[in-house]
Amino acid sequence: MKLATRAGRIEPFYVMEVAKAAAERARTTGTGGREMVFLNIGEPDFTAPPLVQEAAARAVRDGITQYTPATGLPALRERISGWYAQRFGLQVPARRIVVTAGASAALQLACLALVDAGDEVLMPDPSYPCNRHFVSAADGSAVLIPTTAAERYQLSAAKVEAAWSPRTCGVLLASPSNPTGTSIHPEELARIHAVVQARQGVTLIDEIYLGLSHDAAFGQSALALGEDVVSINSFSKYFCMTGWRLGWLVVPDALVPVIERLAQNLFICPSTVAQHAALACFEAASIAEYERRRGEFKARRDFFLPALAAAGLPVPVAPDGAFYAWADCSEACRRLGVASSWELAFALMDQAALAITPGRDFGTAETAQRIRFSTASSMAHLQEAAARLKALLG
Ligand SMILES: Cc1ncc(COP(=O)(O)O)c(C=O)c1O
Repeated sequence: MKLATRAGRIEPFYVMEVAKAAAERARTTGTGGREMVFLNIGEPDFTAPPLVQEAAARAVRDGITQYTPATGLPALRERISGWYAQRFGLQVPARRIVVTAGASAALQLACLALVDAGDEVLMPDPSYPCNRHFVSAADGSAVLIPTTAAERYQLSAAKVEAAWSPRTCGVLLASPSNPTGTSIHPEELARIHAVVQARQGVTLIDEIYLGLSHDAAFGQSALALGEDVVSINSFSKYFCMTGWRLGWLVVPDALVPVIERLAQNLFICPSTVAQHAALACFEAASIAEYERRRGEFKARRDFFLPALAAAGLPVPVAPDGAFYAWADCSEACRRLGVASSWELAFALMDQAALAITPGRDFGTAETAQRIRFSTASSMAHLQEAAARLKALLG
């Protein structure tokens, strides 16, 4: 069978190999009899709160399961618009909000609408692995720009300016970022936006972790910069609905019919049941619960960062949001006699029954010396992981 060259360009998702190996060891107790602690998956351990579950059950029971408009339920677009006003003081009209099957579909739609064959999109190294592939599935190419701790592992205006080529069509940023949990400083973001705008490019920004911001200095949406910013968001993380497959994007008015046409053809609509459930995310009781959880994620971060440092796994930039810690594992590799974070991942699995994510998928710059911990697991799991790391490496 002849495969499309496009398919050949999609690299393997190495993280999944590590996850499979960890699950296999957990199943066969190949970990010295200890239960595997999983800090590798970026997924809240919380599920949808009661009102959201009830709304989903009601939609199913009442048979409200037909297709919705491709851009999503009008009522849900209104609620999301209200959320921007209430939380960020931003007026984002519902007509510019398109509901999608997760941030993944939003990223795919945005790339298909904005990236032409041969176009280049600038993004930081490290960054969320799938972003490169959304661009390459649109026949463009991702240009990864190495970043430093001093830059909070984010692009700077100077680097965007230096890397801009006649083929560049824009930047794809994430704030807070996966894998680092660090955000772009608002002033730097404004400078990046100005550089991109001056070159008639597009600023795409993934704000899927913005709801889980722990620092007021970084918690503002890039949509405040202007109507030309394309913001991607999701019900997966802050709203704890990963498997429900629901997200959204905010686009300039002129782009709405383009995205709508693509969405009609590629997806018909996002899940109707998930959309009806999501209406209840914005009830006061649900928001109160989400805010309690946000506090819990912060408490987990505050416990885990010093514990990592004590085990010889310093985190060069403290995450200001999301639930990740991007740790420097050079010293840990030396102590265990392994060459890279990839080998360290297997050593931790075998010697500490601990599953983490090696840096490999996230880029190439420093990723052989970096590992990502997800702190979306319970405090008890984090405490156990900290004790095991200390015993092994301390
Ligand atoms: C930065 C980032 N963007 C997008 C996604 C995809 O999210 P969704 O579940 O909304 O498709 C993830 C998932 O982990 C992510 O970390």
